[in-house]
Amino acid sequence: MPTPVSWWRYLLVTAILVLFAGAFYIAAFGLPSAQVDAQDFVDLQQGSNPHEGFRRAHAKGFCIAGDFVSSGALAQYSNAPMFAATTTPLLGRISIAGNNPLAPDLKAPVRSLALSIATSSTEVWRTAMNTPPVMAVRNPQDFYQQLQALGNGTIQQFFAEHPESAAFRAWAADYQQTSSFATEVYNSINAFYLINDVGTQQAVRWQAVPRAAADHEIPAEFAGSDDALQNEFAARLAADPVIFDLVFTLAEPGDDEADPTVLWPDARQQIVAGQLVIRDMTPQADGACNAINFDPMVLPTGMAATADKILRARSAAYAESYRRRAREQ
Ligand code: HEM
Repeated sequence: MPTPVSWWRYLLVTAILVLFAGAFYIAAFGLPSAQVDAQDFVDLQQGSNPHEGFRRAHAKGFCIAGDFVSSGALAQYSNAPMFAATTTPLLGRISIAGNNPLAPDLKAPVRSLALSIATSSTEVWRTAMNTPPVMAVRNPQDFYQQLQALGNGTIQQFFAEHPESAAFRAWAADYQQTSSFATEVYNSINAFYLINDVGTQQAVRWQAVPRAAADHEIPAEFAGSDDALQNEFAARLAADPVIFDLVFTLAEPGDDEADPTVLWPDARQQIVAGQLVIRDMTPQADGACNAINFDPMVLPTGMAATADKILRARSAAYAESYRRRAREQ
């Protein structure tokens, strides 16, 4: 039976060991930051009064369908079947950021294009792209705080404390929204790898670049409606398909592929992989996109995720948002 003195010794030695282990951890990995998980993100994004049955972010949108007409120009970098010289059907969704499925189109600061391009049930490429080319922050914890700051009116202070937001702020200062979903440039923001037959890995980002010329004056016939951009897109599509070039930018050694706050230099090589040809649109409630989770980690053979931490956080949050709305529908 240990005496009271030996108990004290035992506790003292244990406390010293714990202190050493803690010091070692901090030296090796830095101070642990508060982790946020998918539940935290979706709780914050949906707000206190969730719109049941809807996506918890980018809640307002509509489904689109058409084709990805690949030129084959990317085939030397990736053996993804949709990058061969072939045409693959696409399903997608055009949306505005925010949790309100009835929000006025013209007030949304971010517009989005999501795609699902599948050559079989296992070879599927999903991407969800936004109008900004970079993020303001580079890790999920900071993105969570950015969303909090947007909500409580302290975003300018947040930016001042996050110098890595410089590229995002510079873009935002110059950016002018166009008068149509069909004339915006949509960006992957996060980088991915293309992988070819011999296993060579090439880091890339991509953009959907509109074929139609942009202007910034919304026609009067649409301007008064909360659904101005949806109505404009419908009128445009009734006349002609809406076409985007799918443009890939190739990183060079030294470009950081895991940091979504940094733009790569303008001089980087670009390859037009083909055209996104949008022929149809349907309301999301009864459209094919309703059942799709545009998880950016759903990738075919010949593509892989980089180490960008935001990608994992997105994947987990989109799944949580999907689970919530699927339960409610
Ligand atoms: C940690 C960072 C991010 C989080 C936590 C987050 C969270 C979410 C959530 C919860 C949804 C709803 C998903 C659903 O129910 O289907 C969503 C949708 C979306 N997000 Fe993000 N997001 C993040 C970053 C980004 C970035 C960097 C982009 C652009 C490259 C992006 C583009 C989109 C788009 C386009 C949609 C709508 C997809 C659709 O039409 O279904 N997000 N996001």
